[in-house]
Amino acid sequence: MLVYLNGSLVPLKDARVSVLDHGFLYGDGIYETLRVYDGVVFMLREHLGRLWRSAELVGLDIPLDAQALEGAVYETLQGNGLRDAWLRITISRGPGPLGLDPALCSGATVFIYAEAFKPYPRQFYSQGIRAVLARTRRNLREAQDPRIKSLSFLNNILAKMEAVRAGAEEAFMLNHAGCLTEGTVSNLFFARDGVLFTPSVQCGLLDGITRQVVLSLARRLDVPVREDCFGAQELYAAREVFITSSTKEVMPVRQVDGTHYGVGELTKLLMAEFRKEVSAYVAEAKARGPSVWGYE
Ligand code: PDD
Repeated sequence: MLVYLNGSLVPLKDARVSVLDHGFLYGDGIYETLRVYDGVVFMLREHLGRLWRSAELVGLDIPLDAQALEGAVYETLQGNGLRDAWLRITISRGPGPLGLDPALCSGATVFIYAEAFKPYPRQFYSQGIRAVLARTRRNLREAQDPRIKSLSFLNNILAKMEAVRAGAEEAFMLNHAGCLTEGTVSNLFFARDGVLFTPSVQCGLLDGITRQVVLSLARRLDVPVREDCFGAQELYAAREVFITSSTKEVMPVRQVDGTHYGVGELTKLLMAEFRKEVSAYVAEAKARGPSVWGYE
């Protein structure tokens, strides 16, 4: 397996990063996780846009431009002969002496890792996953804005540990004011009486790219959507719950704490529409030709 590290493809076993990298020492860095369908990276421009926004929010200088990074992404896929994959771009502050000041670092570390996509268990889609409402609260926007897709993931890891302890797959976090935010690696949606609800970005969460696709699909299908602040009671009172992420797409939730849900009609509709959207995106990308879209 080959990985991209600072400008070249190298075997994974030879890929080395300094122990003084501030990504390792302080969690100082950013990342993106992307899904590749039949050789096409879904929503690549949007992910790169968010990567650059994260970089701007933490004052990190990405040492190559978007076109070069796009090229590096396709180089990594090609080098490994991957067509259906997930891919992670990680950019850390880079190596430097101890101390928090980013100016101590000599330059960012750029790392791209891709792996064949392993589908989640089928029953996660047919029946749904289990989730808990975590005691761990989501980072305050004014402390560490969840819109920064940051390498400092302890907030989410602490919530994930609660899920694991409860035998669940995902944990949802409230914000400091008791409003629902998101899962540890996913956005949260729920539905009742034909209305689709999702916590507003104002509540302090990552504006997921899959979330955005699902919101557009719902609007196109004339499904009433409410993006707002909601409490735990509204989630418990919902008839359908699902999560979204680049790797999980639209995944139903069958249980939150002691409350059970079915895989409802709206969830099924959005799961199907999302798959159609992916197919249309891939077909359109391929129609534009291999010169733009990497390899055929
Ligand atoms: N996670 N919220 C959080 C905290 C996330 O980490 C993610 C993505 C999402 C969904 O965002 P998107 O739809 O853009 O993938 C929401 C990725 C998959 C990860 O951590 O690997």
